[in-house]
Amino acid sequence: MTTRTRSQAQAGTSAGQQPGVAIRLRDVTRRYAVPDGDPAAVAGIFDVDLDIGGGDLVAIMGPSGSGKTTLLNVIAALDRADAGKVEVGGTDLATAAASVLSRFRRDTVGVVFQDSVLIPELDVVGNIAMPAMLAGDNRRRAARRARELLARLQLASLHDRPPGKLSGGQRQQVALARALVNRPSLLLADEPTGSLDSASGARLVALLEEVNASGTTVILVTHDDAVAAHAHRVVRLLDGRLR
Ligand SMILES: Nc1ncnc2c1ncn2[C@@H]1O[C@H](COP(=O)(O)OP(=O)(O)O)[C@@H](O)[C@H]1O
Ligand SMILES: [Mg+2]
Repeated sequence: MTTRTRSQAQAGTSAGQQPGVAIRLRDVTRRYAVPDGDPAAVAGIFDVDLDIGGGDLVAIMGPSGSGKTTLLNVIAALDRADAGKVEVGGTDLATAAASVLSRFRRDTVGVVFQDSVLIPELDVVGNIAMPAMLAGDNRRRAARRARELLARLQLASLHDRPPGKLSGGQRQQVALARALVNRPSLLLADEPTGSLDSASGARLVALLEEVNASGTTVILVTHDDAVAAHAHRVVRLLDGRLR
């Protein structure tokens, strides 16, 4: 406890140590035209009503194309709903000013995509530390936090590798560490264990649980029942609708 409190205080301006944010979606639709399809055919998510409490750990499951990534993008304010209301941590994402949204993306949310892009010119520590430095931490402190996260994933030996010399699974874990470096109060992870062996996957899930236990709301997309079993709740999508 003491260690956590101290390291949280050390995170300084990038801390974002609010309790995990709650999420409220009402009638949310994000519609994409289907290329070369019937003009009436659409894809995306439709009429989604979803409440996620602050500090919850939720798994989103559903077949490929069912709208899982679209849903994460809308919650992350990386994409805008065509209709409906999206409230994250009390902020209405449809009406929030651009400056509020960019602060939200930097300080409140951590996102791991299916194929997150790392900066090729920076080594692993530099990649993980980057969001902390953008949020105002000094280089030394940001690098220390990056190394802690790497060690937690048993990847300390990769600290000075360029991303080009990492496997897909290693890149995925580095992207997760980067998403956690600013201690987000909301973590969104799109199939974070997708290309990991089972031991690395288990370590990653343990880290997500630890982050969740410290208060962060965690939403992860997964196809893996064993991963979903760690969630407090499973939300299922089919053809863009909650089941
Ligand atoms: N940027 C986009 N442009 C056009 N169609 C898209 C776009 N993003 C997603 N879609 C479509 O919306 C549906 C849901 O996609 P997605 O959310 O990526 O599903 P999932 O993550 O569950 O595999 C799919 O039919 C997909 O082709
Ligand atoms: Mg997807």
